Amino acid sequence: MGVPAEEKIVQPDALRVEGLGKRFGGLEILKNLTFTVRHGERRAFIGPNGAGKTTLFNMIAGDLQPTAGDIFFFTENITRLPNYQRVRKGMVRTFQKNNLFSELSVLENLLLVLQMKTGTGRVWYRIRSRRRFPDIYDLADELLATWGLAERSHTLVKHLSYGEQRQLEILLGIATEPKILLLDEPTAGMSNQETQQILKLLQQMPRDLTLLIIEHDMDVVFGLADRVTVLYNGGILLEGDPRTIQTDPRVYEIYFGKKGGV
Ligand SMILES: Nc1ncnc2c1ncn2[C@@H]1O[C@H](COP(=O)(O)OP(=O)(O)O)[C@@H](O)[C@H]1O
Ligand SMILES: [Mg+2]
Repeated sequence: MGVPAEEKIVQPDALRVEGLGKRFGGLEILKNLTFTVRHGERRAFIGPNGAGKTTLFNMIAGDLQPTAGDIFFFTENITRLPNYQRVRKGMVRTFQKNNLFSELSVLENLLLVLQMKTGTGRVWYRIRSRRRFPDIYDLADELLATWGLAERSHTLVKHLSYGEQRQLEILLGIATEPKILLLDEPTAGMSNQETQQILKLLQQMPRDLTLLIIEHDMDVVFGLADRVTVLYNGGILLEGDPRTIQTDPRVYEIYFGKKGGV
């Protein structure tokens, strides 16, 4: 329909999950999940506590083996690949708080990630000098400026606010230049202002980065996601664009229909 032929080249989906299931002992936490995420899409996963959202991310990232089904990264079946091999391919989840070095500065934390990525320096924990490795420092400065942490560059991580620490975790994730970035509740425990800041940061991410985010804050979900998947009772209750999800009575029921739903 008016689309030039050369634009019809079909891009492979960034992620495809087929018949995925997870049992813990006798409990079937997730069953027969099937969905795809397009390249460059921003997909939010919502659902009540215990719905299995984190379990799903654990399986996608390779921290947990599924008991059924397959996971495809672009066209490659990665179901059996260990976590570190997925990271190398560009499947990255945010660094958890305890992965930050609290006695090092913001800049030093970032330099360690960049050194690892560029293979600079044989000893991973030794920070190289600006004199000998100006390019890495320039890149670090640029990233910190872009992500609003330039003024905190020389602050020790332990002196950052909680919100700033979470922001740094996301930045370290981005610094590895992933193809798919998984964020599990990046705004948990944050003030409104910090949440808005994270939302702004996420909105500025490159459009070819495929972003999967578990999030409870609906301002973030609807301010960011191209599509939303609702997990409930071990399966996908609904998937659609934000408008569809926002107005679906079943989603309303899950979140507001009963006490303690979220
Ligand atoms: N390692 C585990 N062993 C046993 N049960 C688990 C394990 N991890 C998660 N669960 C259970 O799986 C269910 C889904 O948990 P989770 O994925 O953390 O949900 P969500 O992130 O949506 O809140 C919960 O009932 C939880 O207790
Ligand atoms: Mg969770």
